[in-house]
Amino acid sequence: MSRSGKVTVVGAGFYGSTTALRLAEYDIFESVVLTDILDGKPEGIALDINQSRSIEGFESRVIGATTTAEGKGYEATAGSDVVIITAGLPRKPGMSRMDLIGVNAGIVRGVAENIAKHSPNAVLIVVSNPLDEMTALAQIATKFPYQRVMGQAGMLDTARFTHFVAEKLNVPVASVKTLTLGSHGETMVPIPSRCTVDGAALSTKLSDTEIQELVTRTRNGGAEVVALLKTGSAYYAPSAAAARMAKAVIQDSGEVMPVCAWVDGQYSITGVYLGVEAQIGRAGITKVVESDLTASELAELKVAAEAVRAKQADVKDL
Ligand code: LAC
Repeated sequence: MSRSGKVTVVGAGFYGSTTALRLAEYDIFESVVLTDILDGKPEGIALDINQSRSIEGFESRVIGATTTAEGKGYEATAGSDVVIITAGLPRKPGMSRMDLIGVNAGIVRGVAENIAKHSPNAVLIVVSNPLDEMTALAQIATKFPYQRVMGQAGMLDTARFTHFVAEKLNVPVASVKTLTLGSHGETMVPIPSRCTVDGAALSTKLSDTEIQELVTRTRNGGAEVVALLKTGSAYYAPSAAAARMAKAVIQDSGEVMPVCAWVDGQYSITGVYLGVEAQIGRAGITKVVESDLTASELAELKVAAEAVRAKQADVKDL
């Protein structure tokens, strides 16, 4: 197995550490760097993951580095090909992702600036919340070209939709295809017209009311986990999604995935980070792919774009 490149995961909370573990177990990167501002935590997790290498059979090396807001410790991340930013606070029960905007904007801006200094050619995958706004902010702070900054949300929301459909129909998840676009928040746009079960339209398997229930559950997919956990937010499904995106980048796979990407003209929407389908490769987003949507799905996507645009304008000053 040939390994190449370096990936950095910023933030050694549950999201960051499970992402680092998944990336290490893929065994495709030369090194996986995990950072955090909590002294010793990333080093401890890195040591722990490295000690699992002989059992799980992977050679990628995990490197932990404690960093400071002033930029100490970021040398360990230098020259990363891909950087996943998980830094920031998660939601508490009852909170919306948007409630995190003030506190997380400061954290994400600082991290993005330090990353840009040490890894000027990296592809950035942002997962901090509120997702669409933090992705826009990371692009502003790094001044990276739009195509090298993307956010993770559509993969996760789509995976949640897929799980709910499979569970409802009691069929293997592999037989289900779903799609979720729009924001990673109130204006998330699950796309029932693009959902199939063994190739058959979802509408042939479930009633409109049943589909609508699954759409609502998908929109609240993150909040449902937060309410159950009582402390912290989801990380197994989110880390699976973020790690897959990093894999698509380093392997230059050209896979089309639902992600938060800079949309400029597609669907007649211009100049906003939004959840759409996009082709992912070594250069980042190589193409935003327009899907066939029904008139009402397209209308919802446009509502999402305007809602996100208004908030993204605010983050410039945060
Ligand atoms: C979620 C968080 C990670 O949706 O945004 O679970």
